[in-house]
Amino acid sequence: MHNKFSNSLIAWYQEYHRKLPWRETKDAYKIWLSEIILQQTRVQQGLSYYLKFIQVFPTVFDLASATEDEVLTQWQGLGYYSRARNLHLTAKKIAFEMGGKFPNSKSELIKLKGIGDYTSSAIASFCFDEPTAVIDGNVFRFIGRMLGIFSPIDLPETKARINIFLQEHFPKKNGNTFNQGLMEMGALLCTPKNPNCEECPFKMSCYAFQNNCQADIPVKGKKIKVRIRHFNYLFISQENNIALQKRKGQDIWKNLYEFPCIETDQEVSQTDLQNIINEKYKIKNPIISSIANYNHQLTHQKLKVTIWKLDNYIAEMPKNWIFASSNDINNFALPRVLSRFWEDFSNNGLQLQIV
Ligand code: ADE
Repeated sequence: MHNKFSNSLIAWYQEYHRKLPWRETKDAYKIWLSEIILQQTRVQQGLSYYLKFIQVFPTVFDLASATEDEVLTQWQGLGYYSRARNLHLTAKKIAFEMGGKFPNSKSELIKLKGIGDYTSSAIASFCFDEPTAVIDGNVFRFIGRMLGIFSPIDLPETKARINIFLQEHFPKKNGNTFNQGLMEMGALLCTPKNPNCEECPFKMSCYAFQNNCQADIPVKGKKIKVRIRHFNYLFISQENNIALQKRKGQDIWKNLYEFPCIETDQEVSQTDLQNIINEKYKIKNPIISSIANYNHQLTHQKLKVTIWKLDNYIAEMPKNWIFASSNDINNFALPRVLSRFWEDFSNNGLQLQIV
């Protein structure tokens, strides 16, 4: 059984895998970049981000020498911006403190910011042929179904069980192909919905296929509590310039740009918001109207976003506001929901009332 599993997986991978640029290189920088991007998104969308990153920042030195704003702008739309900030921090460490060379072992790689258990295994295996198995969501699903694992995926013992199985079956040769195969199997055949069991070389020994319970595995972990937040954005346009501020603090979207934001505990009426604006910005009789609403779902938060147009002329703007030319807005790293608004606004102007 030992070699049979790995031999079948490697043979299947060699015949059916997708040709992807990060699979054609051993350059640790490119592999690291691809893995961080792919934690965020599906291969289809990740590919265009990857190609753009490689073009704009061809080496770890280019990424390290960029400003954080430039990195965030390239990352725009992927979400989880702390990943982009960690990417930049780690690039600087590797470029300026380690001579541009990535550590060549999992145990050293995992010490770097933003590189965890999965990414350190991926880089160590794909670049340096270290025999360490990668376990991401695809692998959880594929191996979980094959072995009939019903314990929830957020329990450490569930991952430990999968890891023991994979390390036992880890081949002496072609370990990196084995790892790519594990993920590719989860991406192409052993998919979350409607897995293609007919084409699967493991169906005869797969617990889930034999017991027709593919839909029951993996078992999800505890439901995370979702926090609801209300963001009221002030859209202030003066002579074709738009007010923006850089978001600070230990919150979502740190260092991204946004319109001046008033967060409230609940939905506010126009009059409530006028009072808040009056108090916060000392604008007497603010003239506002709500021009767009969006619901924006993050993993742990649901954002109810309202864009309010503010029509007063503001002679003395707060120090942390900047006025960006409307032609220039796309050069700022905005949260996805605001770049979406900007796109809607540019296309439809003020006719907009989207939910
Ligand atoms: N998802 C995460 N890592 C991947 C990889 N190296 N290839 C394809 N999909 C992936």
